Amino acid sequence: MRIVQMSDIHVGTPLFRPELIKAAIEETNAYAPDLVAVAGDLTTAGYRWEFEEAKSYLDQIECENVVVIMGNHDAQNVGYEHFEDLFGERSRSLTIRVPEGEVKLVALDSSKPDLAEGEVGRENYGWIDAELRGWDRGPKIVMVHHHLMAVPGTGRDRNNLRDSGDVMAVLRDLKVDMVLSGHKHVPYVWSISGVRMIHSGTVSSMRVRGRIPPSYNVIEFDPDQVVVNLRHPGEGEVPFARFSRQAVTTSEIFPDLQYFVRYAEPTA
Ligand SMILES: [Fe+2]
Ligand SMILES: [Fe+2]
Repeated sequence: MRIVQMSDIHVGTPLFRPELIKAAIEETNAYAPDLVAVAGDLTTAGYRWEFEEAKSYLDQIECENVVVIMGNHDAQNVGYEHFEDLFGERSRSLTIRVPEGEVKLVALDSSKPDLAEGEVGRENYGWIDAELRGWDRGPKIVMVHHHLMAVPGTGRDRNNLRDSGDVMAVLRDLKVDMVLSGHKHVPYVWSISGVRMIHSGTVSSMRVRGRIPPSYNVIEFDPDQVVVNLRHPGEGEVPFARFSRQAVTTSEIFPDLQYFVRYAEPTA
């Protein structure tokens, strides 16, 4: 299975570079992925024209499964209404057919209107649980814009997922294979208790940090390993990270999840 993960397109800022998103999309089409995960911040201020311009690029992706989520910038100025008009539901679960079988993907909206920080929200844990628990037909992937773990080289951490501890415990208990996030504009990878958290940089803006240029991720999920490569649009690809396919957990935790995080069974 091949995944392209990109985020932080940021149409609308003077630092947006259309040639970078165009190059990334051309490269993506040549790569022919099974899934293109666009992990939020399509816009800069949530304006309609910014979403429309972002969509005009994303519509050029030749992949059956292009999944787009909201970022904090997209929730400015009531931008979530435009997102819903143009991209559909802000949170959803879907099953994706891949050459090796099926993937369960849960795409979450962690944005809150006009806040830089994010939250999944405990009202959603029951639904996430219902979608992922017991799934055994292939990998379990979650998309969420905000980072669950701090990303190095990004300064002080002020706007992570505010309920990241609870969310991490839920994802660990559900044995989620991979979390795809954006937000910090610096690519990085963590693996905690078997959950790989993969962050993409900004694909098409110069809103970069330090010396790390715009980038996106390509991820290959094969029977033995998960390989993450970093692509700089128009400038090639470099190896970034590699995991064994079987999640490596170096610790076990014995109390039930409900000892730490309680939530009601979903009613609908
Ligand atoms: Fe961003
Ligand atoms: Fe963001």
